[in-house]
Amino acid sequence: MSNKPFIVYVAARGFEGELQEELELAGVQVREVRERLVLADGFFPAAWAQNIWLEPFFLPIASVGDAVRRLKAVQRNWHLHPVDFHRRAELIRQQLPPVKARPLRFGESAPASPLGAWTLWDHDTLLLSARCSSPFPDGEVFFEEDRVHPPSRAYLKLWEVFTLLGQAPQPGELCLDLGSAPGGWTWVLASLGAHVFSIDKSPLAPQVAAMKGVEHCLGSGFALEPQTTGRVDWVFSDMACYPERLLGLVRKWLEAEAAANFVCTVKLQGRTDHEAVQDFRSIPGSLVMHLSCNKHELTWVRLAKGRQQRI
Ligand SMILES: C[S@@+](CC[C@H](N)C(=O)[O-])C[C@H]1O[C@@H](n2cnc3c(N)ncnc32)[C@H](O)[C@@H]1O
Repeated sequence: MSNKPFIVYVAARGFEGELQEELELAGVQVREVRERLVLADGFFPAAWAQNIWLEPFFLPIASVGDAVRRLKAVQRNWHLHPVDFHRRAELIRQQLPPVKARPLRFGESAPASPLGAWTLWDHDTLLLSARCSSPFPDGEVFFEEDRVHPPSRAYLKLWEVFTLLGQAPQPGELCLDLGSAPGGWTWVLASLGAHVFSIDKSPLAPQVAAMKGVEHCLGSGFALEPQTTGRVDWVFSDMACYPERLLGLVRKWLEAEAAANFVCTVKLQGRTDHEAVQDFRSIPGSLVMHLSCNKHELTWVRLAKGRQQRI
């Protein structure tokens, strides 16, 4: 345990192995792993990290009260990520100022106040970081869900992307939604007042197909040509397909300069194809991230202007 500079990554749930592989392939040496916490020698914007502790350090403590005093002296808001010494860590947590953890209503901004993260590394040592890549506990975003209108829970991916980036389609903007059935994403986009050209081999749920601004076409998202549609404001894809096929589609739309903004799910099957993820990441101005409700998949985003990184 030394205080030579290092970074702490919190792996997306169930993807600890992917995170370690990703860091090693990026040339970032992993020092130690405890459950979802990965201590490594340098910074990399790892897609499989749900949160990154940017300025971590070890701090010896004399007692529970001492730990509380020291954490409070740094800042008000802290999130405990316990990996060991659970009872002692919980005693410390209980004496820290409460941090509101209510689910977000879609449309609300992400919390503006910084949220630090800490753990009890051993009985008498805190590992803490006041600065983290996400203002959400462990980088996980929970919403007040709409269990009535959207036909699938996939709508949560778009709610999270728009919240993290602070940008969303504006009323009247033209969106392509490729692989749209049963219609969770189309429902989000139409609810924002966008025009949605929605394509899938399967039909949309009738209540979504009937929404104002929605046009649905049965067919393949790969068959759509930029020359036919003309310029669009947003290309969305949640198609179940191999990453290389999606990459080809994205390049086609980029080369034609036919779309301003992209939000695409990169679906990964079996052994994670880190090379394909790197191909997406290397597209200028883009970002690859694991959303709270992503499973074995990542979300690739490229915006014409504005935020090119997670909040
Ligand atoms: C995860 S679902 C999409 C969920 C959708 N985003 C939602 O919010 O409800 C994946 C969809 O991709 C569609 N799909 C797979 N290959 C496709 C293709 N070549 N063209 C269009 N849709 C395709 C499937 O039919 C399936 O409906």
